[in-house]
Amino acid sequence: QPRKAELKARIRRLLAEKQAVLVAHYYVDSDLQDLAEETGGCVSDSLEMARFGRDHPAKTLVVAGVRFMGETAKILSPEKTILMPDLDATCSLDLGCPPEEFAAFCDAHPDRTVVVYANTSAAVKARADWMVTSSIGLEIVEHLHAQGKKILWAPDKHLGGYIQKKTGADMLLWQGSCLVHDEFKGIELELLRKEHPQARVLVHPESPEAVVAQADVVGSTSQLIAAAKSLDAREFIVATDNGILHKMRMAAPGKIFIDAPTAGNSATCKSCAHCPWMAMNGLQNLADVLESGRNEIHVDPEIGRKARVCIDRMLDFAA
Ligand code: 13P
Ligand code: SF4
Repeated sequence: QPRKAELKARIRRLLAEKQAVLVAHYYVDSDLQDLAEETGGCVSDSLEMARFGRDHPAKTLVVAGVRFMGETAKILSPEKTILMPDLDATCSLDLGCPPEEFAAFCDAHPDRTVVVYANTSAAVKARADWMVTSSIGLEIVEHLHAQGKKILWAPDKHLGGYIQKKTGADMLLWQGSCLVHDEFKGIELELLRKEHPQARVLVHPESPEAVVAQADVVGSTSQLIAAAKSLDAREFIVATDNGILHKMRMAAPGKIFIDAPTAGNSATCKSCAHCPWMAMNGLQNLADVLESGRNEIHVDPEIGRKARVCIDRMLDFAA
């Protein structure tokens, strides 16, 4: 496709010209993932995206993902320019946890340590003691539980419930969910497993309990890709956004990856489990923002300073 090749060449040239680096999530378009890797950027899970953006010397980061990822990059590097292909790319977890309601929830439970998932606004993070991502939430809650802390958790009820069950911690859960992972269904997955009895099941913990219960591996996007590579199996059923399949196929050539079934579709559906907001990132709008410098992410400096405390805690813990 000449148009695609032209756009990619334009992006490569603009990244070099503007001394910018591309930081992409595994759920975005495969062309963007490849470009990020090829040009010295990164494609990774939320924790690694945050760390990479913070540590990279580039003055401009282009974040191909959703808004909270751009905001986290800005909070960690207020001196950098953070651009995003589409500023309306949000997340149902972020939308479902408005800062004022969240503050009232925290006010009502002052005895609890506030732990929030990365998929939240800067204002929600500013109110938290800890931020976690799916790759490290379990360890951090384990650590807090061992210190006898009671936890207020927001916003993902499935991830929170999974961590609660695993750690036995006292957790009060906000009732948010990811609109993509919430669609995976336990009964349909059971049926699919009967058709593929040898398949291993890889599940992101934003999925409902009935799906997580059938997993061979539960983990962040990076952890699931690592499992696809290292596990001695030929077939995998994957319960997460199907943008991840591009990287899984590259990491484990010759293995077979099957989308986990979602509500109202058969296992043959190719595009059901795909985040509409991640899908807003494309070659055209990426090239346009690089050219124009539009779509810059701004975070109120006072909110950013407060939010940074809980992000730094996680990064220090992870180091
Ligand atoms: P991770 O890549 O950190 O597992 O998070 C998934 C996610 O929620 C991105 O939307
Ligand atoms: Fe949010 Fe789910 Fe989309 Fe990730 S996949 S950005 S958690 S709505």
